[in-house]
Amino acid sequence: MRLLAIETSCDETAAALVTDSFLVESSVVASQAAAHAAYGGVVPELAARMHLERIAGVVKAAMASLGEDYSRLDGVAVTRGPGLVGCLAVGASYAQALAAGAGLPVVGVNHMTGHVLAAELEDPQLEPPFVGLVVSGGHTDLIHYRSHQDVELLGATRDDAVGEAFDKVARMLGLPYPGGPEIDRVAQAGDPTRFRLPRPVLPNFGFSFSGLKTAVLYLLRDLGELDDQTRADVAAAFRLAAVETLCLQLEAAVEQTGCHRAVLAGGVASNRLLREMARSRLEGLAELTIPAPALCTDNAAMIGAAGIVRQRTHGFDLHPFEIDPGLRAYA
Ligand code: KG4
Ligand code: ZN
Repeated sequence: MRLLAIETSCDETAAALVTDSFLVESSVVASQAAAHAAYGGVVPELAARMHLERIAGVVKAAMASLGEDYSRLDGVAVTRGPGLVGCLAVGASYAQALAAGAGLPVVGVNHMTGHVLAAELEDPQLEPPFVGLVVSGGHTDLIHYRSHQDVELLGATRDDAVGEAFDKVARMLGLPYPGGPEIDRVAQAGDPTRFRLPRPVLPNFGFSFSGLKTAVLYLLRDLGELDDQTRADVAAAFRLAAVETLCLQLEAAVEQTGCHRAVLAGGVASNRLLREMARSRLEGLAELTIPAPALCTDNAAMIGAAGIVRQRTHGFDLHPFEIDPGLRAYA
């Protein structure tokens, strides 16, 4: 079985071909980051219009390896939610129109489940149960993924998502949007021990990244004008505090659940320090799967992986189906 997958929930227009052995045959991602950078964040109306302009070209590029022959597909997977309403509408409408025209069935996919199941593309043998740390621009979740039909939320952030905190701290440091990769880059040249920031670990696997962000704000106020080395040192201190907080909770969740497998997922999972620290912390405790960086940030291959699994457990959808911008994660 081979699915064409389409993802347009935020500011990436993406299409991919994925087989039922979790082989990625093609994956095309057209990022809008440069267009939104001028505004310091994603502008929903601009994002939806850019998806509309680009989706046909992106799907065509993903289909090139099949000679654009839609009869070689077995179905279409597309993000149903959560996400921005206008953005989801473009992808879901396009996918359903294409499927209707080509006589193919459609499966609607949860974007957050897509992030988690990107791990299947890294390790096709991966089976639940596992603990998942899902870290993106909108989510900071620790989950117990017991089976494809039973996902328990162990804990989450009480305020800002960790990716959001990376983006906001980057802005305070005068770095461009999206800030996560910028902080990761600048922090490499910094001394993470020069400044000490809090590790906002809350009970019940909770996090508070807004508090950490405010601590950076006060530190910057005290420091005044920043030279390059001080900026790198603050970035490194923030990255260490955020990553250590995530790893402390991940380790505790692995111990509490007794799971011997764990998965990192979401855009922040492409962070270099998080990848290293999670590996060393879980050594001997759990087998850790971390998707390649390009499969951590938004892409359509992960939607293909989740589409394969969803189709196995629930079958294809009866179309037309409704998009759901507020869809509960992992539902
Ligand atoms: O999963 P994603 O691509 O989109 C959402 O579904 O939100 O995650 C985007 C988030 C942004 O906040 C971005 O700054 C962050 O992931 N991010 C990173 C890195 N790369 C992306 N944060 C820290 N380090 C990185 N290397
Ligand atoms: Zn995402």
